[in-house]
Amino acid sequence: MLLKSILGWTALVASAVAADLPEIEIIGNKFFFKNNGTQFLMRGIAYQQNPTNTTASFHDPLADTEACKRDIPYMQAVNTNIIRVYALNASLDHTECMNLLTDAGIYVIADLSQPDQSINRDSPEWNLDLYKRYTDVVDKFLNYSNILGFFAGNEVTNNVTNTDASAFVKAAVRDTKAYIKAKGYRQIPVGYSANDDTDIRDSLADYFACGDEDERADFFGINMYEWCGSSTYTSSGYSDISKQYQNLGIPIFFSEYGCNRVTPRQFQEVGTLYGSDMTNEWSGGIVYMYFQEDNNYGLVSIKGNSVSTLADYNNYKSQIQKISPSLAAASAASTVSATSCPTSTSNWLASTNLPPTPDQDVCDCATSGAQCVVSDDVDSEDYGDLIGVVCGIFDCSGISTNATAGKYGAFSPCDSKNKLNFVLNAYYEANSQHSDACDFSGSATRTSANASGSCSALLKSAGASGTGVVSGNRSGSGNSRASSGSGSGSSRSGSSASRSGSLRSGSASSSNAAVSVKGVKPFSMDSVAKTILIGGGFAIGITLTFL
Ligand SMILES: *[C@@H]1O[C@H](CO)[C@@H](O)[C@H](O)[C@H]1NC(C)=O
Ligand SMILES: *[C@@H]1O[C@H](CO)[C@@H](O)[C@H](O)[C@H]1NC(C)=O
Ligand SMILES: *[C@@H]1O[C@H](CO)[C@@H](O)[C@H](O)[C@H]1NC(C)=O
Ligand SMILES: *[C@@H]1O[C@H](CO)[C@@H](O)[C@H](O)[C@H]1NC(C)=O
Ligand SMILES: *[C@@H]1O[C@H](CO)[C@@H](O)[C@H](O)[C@H]1NC(C)=O
Ligand SMILES: *[C@@H]1O[C@H](CO)[C@@H](O)[C@H](O)[C@H]1NC(C)=O
Ligand SMILES: *[C@@H]1O[C@H](CO)[C@@H](O)[C@H](O)[C@H]1NC(C)=O
Ligand SMILES: *[C@@H]1O[C@H](CO)[C@@H](O)[C@H](O)[C@H]1NC(C)=O
Repeated sequence: MLLKSILGWTALVASAVAADLPEIEIIGNKFFFKNNGTQFLMRGIAYQQNPTNTTASFHDPLADTEACKRDIPYMQAVNTNIIRVYALNASLDHTECMNLLTDAGIYVIADLSQPDQSINRDSPEWNLDLYKRYTDVVDKFLNYSNILGFFAGNEVTNNVTNTDASAFVKAAVRDTKAYIKAKGYRQIPVGYSANDDTDIRDSLADYFACGDEDERADFFGINMYEWCGSSTYTSSGYSDISKQYQNLGIPIFFSEYGCNRVTPRQFQEVGTLYGSDMTNEWSGGIVYMYFQEDNNYGLVSIKGNSVSTLADYNNYKSQIQKISPSLAAASAASTVSATSCPTSTSNWLASTNLPPTPDQDVCDCATSGAQCVVSDDVDSEDYGDLIGVVCGIFDCSGISTNATAGKYGAFSPCDSKNKLNFVLNAYYEANSQHSDACDFSGSATRTSANASGSCSALLKSAGASGTGVVSGNRSGSGNSRASSGSGSGSSRSGSSASRSGSLRSGSASSSNAAVSVKGVKPFSMDSVAKTILIGGGFAIGITLTFL
């Protein structure tokens, strides 16, 4: 009786809980089912509806159980084995959708960013806020065996003008990989999804694929829209990019495809993508996209809870059902030779020296170790402006980044309060703790520093200018190459040179900054010309006239 009820209960639980899908692992430049070594080629669909009738910046597709129930059968009917999702909310529950996908044999590849928290190509940072966002998503999805991988960025660098942003994305790859490793779970791969810009796509792929195992991307996706209407392997441009990427050493795939310049889309390229010209290098692709929206890329249109398949859906279906790719054996996916990092050229300016790992402990030390900090009554919205004021008259390398030079201040990943306190204190120290140097018309206040033992060690390796290399708890391999001692030593001479430079150019603009700082008490220096003291240890009197 007891046995029977236990068995009955077990059967019930088993029917309610999806059996895990076998993990997908990477060997060489290909994906394989871990259970049996069969190659995995992506037959994917991008699945993320834009928010409608809401102020939310995105709609989490894996938290919408009704939509998953509605849509998964349509994906199965076109042999889908993976979906790509672009923005997830780590506070929501994804269990039901993930189980439905598991039952349908469908894997997930997920972007870690979301529209309001991503690496900005115009002012790139890999900071504490993003680190938390990325690792929150990882934590939420770590346990699903049908998570194939994560994207640390999508089309961040998109042309020659912003290649430096890739250094921050690669730091995100490195730190997300390190985080997953530290969690002691399986090594879910982390990669990047690029746009297709012919000027940079070669260097871009090499950049992500090169370097040590713990630093490089595990896979590389390219959003590919070159095959429009009727074309061929050669005339579409597919052969060119295949040649460029053939020795990349990590799996490559189309992280989006399906040009819609000719509609309805015929999806002729499907036969080529899964044919003998391409399967040696490519691991399939992900059609952009499931939902019909204003941009006209949909396979289906949704009204309420009903789905209408469009011509594109039927065309894709007939093409994807025709493929019979020949699969590689895991044993044959022998490790491809390592990719060399791109050299710096006018088209590629991202250093292989990556930004530091965001570390709360390091950032907290900027404040707890400071003897001059922002006053309590300064509005946090004005911290950025006040940083501008200080950095107008003082070298702020400790909180700045230059990914072309591969130079990053130890406190550059910190939030604005810690950054501000670091530069206020550095300025105060550089002026021999003269009380006038911790004032900024009342915006700054002297305090007794309260650095614990580990903080004083961290601050010591950061150095007075903050340009030394700090090894906090999280600092991974990216930082370990430079010894922490040399960082602070050599930086001192460098910063004093740039300090005088920034002073000269900064003095004019700082008066502008002072009047334009909204909410920050104007930096008036008693409303008359006043001497401020600049320089580490010895004071140089420089007269700056402020309004
Ligand atoms: C290996 O496992 C996968 C996933 O269960 C399955 O789709 C595939 O057909 C298997 N390969 C072979 C050769 O049985
Ligand atoms: C949009 O939301 C408003 C308020 O919730 C609702 O009245 C309206 O019917 C919605 N419109 C659509 C098209 O769903
Ligand atoms: C995530 O979901 C929570 C709970 O519904 C909500 O409060 C929050 O605003 C959502 N976050 C984003 C970024 O949409
Ligand atoms: C993941 O699974 C492990 C082992 O079963 C468990 O300890 C952990 O709490 C799970 N984590 C999440 C986020 O579900
Ligand atoms: C590069 O991309 C940015 C952002 O999309 C755009 O504003 C700029 O015009 C582009 N520049 C070139 C040279 O293509
Ligand atoms: C960044 O470093 C590069 C190379 O050293 C230099 O040419 C460039 O001027 C620097 N950029 C800034 C904003 O300082
Ligand atoms: C030292 O710093 C910690 C954390 O910022 C704070 O809680 C504590 O009160 C401080 N102690 C003193 C003596 O200032
Ligand atoms: C590092 O981790 C240890 C143990 O978890 C902790 O006590 C310490 O405060 C952390 N921070 C630093 C900067 O060492």
